[in-house]
Amino acid sequence: MTGAPLVVTDLRVEFSGFVAVGGVSFDAHPGEVRFLIGPNGAGKTTCIDAITGLTRGTGSAKLGGTELLGKQVHKIVRLGVGRTFQTASVFDELTVLQNLDIAAGLRRSPVSLLRARRGVDPSIERALEETGLAGELATPAGILSHGQKQWLEIAMLLVQDAKVLLLDEPVAGMSHDERTATGELLQRIAPKRTVLVVEHDMDFMRRFATRVTVLHQGKVLSQGAVAEVQADPRVQEVYLGTAGAATTAAMSAVPEPVAAMQKLTED
Ligand SMILES: Nc1ncnc2c1ncn2[C@@H]1O[C@H](COP(=O)(O)OP(=O)(O)O)[C@@H](O)[C@H]1O
Ligand SMILES: [Mg+2]
Repeated sequence: MTGAPLVVTDLRVEFSGFVAVGGVSFDAHPGEVRFLIGPNGAGKTTCIDAITGLTRGTGSAKLGGTELLGKQVHKIVRLGVGRTFQTASVFDELTVLQNLDIAAGLRRSPVSLLRARRGVDPSIERALEETGLAGELATPAGILSHGQKQWLEIAMLLVQDAKVLLLDEPVAGMSHDERTATGELLQRIAPKRTVLVVEHDMDFMRRFATRVTVLHQGKVLSQGAVAEVQADPRVQEVYLGTAGAATTAAMSAVPEPVAAMQKLTED
């Protein structure tokens, strides 16, 4: 079964008068690895919080015609919207399998939970294969590598049968190889689902995005295919700024994505 499109229209979120998201519209379709990028404080996480019911927002966020805004968090999960957090939220003391079992419980009805369990749930087996964690079944999540923890979080969403995956900075702190593996994982799972990646890292975005929305100060600055967005002078200004000679020299001394991230976190 294929997922439904996520259509966000004029989303607004205020925190006691401060406009964190000021009328943002974008959509994401099944089959895409859709990116939402922007400097720190641009409002990316707040967008995801509003779509998943953690923060109150106005406007509209529809999944295949069903309005998500105003619904309770668990109802949004049941509709097939899953998310990860900037800091991996797995149970460190439990094994990979136990973590996935808990995720599977979220989509089981109370009645099916009472039935006797027989072996490993097929959806768990599939998620382990897809995320490359099949060899880590019995490993406590706490001793997984940073990358593997993020993959476990993604596996938990797959086990919940999420049709929309909202991933908040999934590759932050990952090695280059782990980033590549993550990008490939997203491409593998995207055909049947809608994947929205919040990112900071321009290099990762360039390699794996289908379409991109750039947020800046709670508004959409630019939107489109990677090449279009990269060529947009407003994006270049926000990402590269009008850096002085000292900053430019410092930036040229480190790899490009690192420089872009440093610039982004200056804010
Ligand atoms: N709960 C909150 N209360 C007040 N301000 C918040 C809250 N959450 C986020 N903000 C502010 O909203 C803006 C957007 O934050 P956020 O969505 O986390 O940005 P991003 O994820 O793009 O870095 C920031 O200025 C942040 O300080
Ligand atoms: Mg954030």
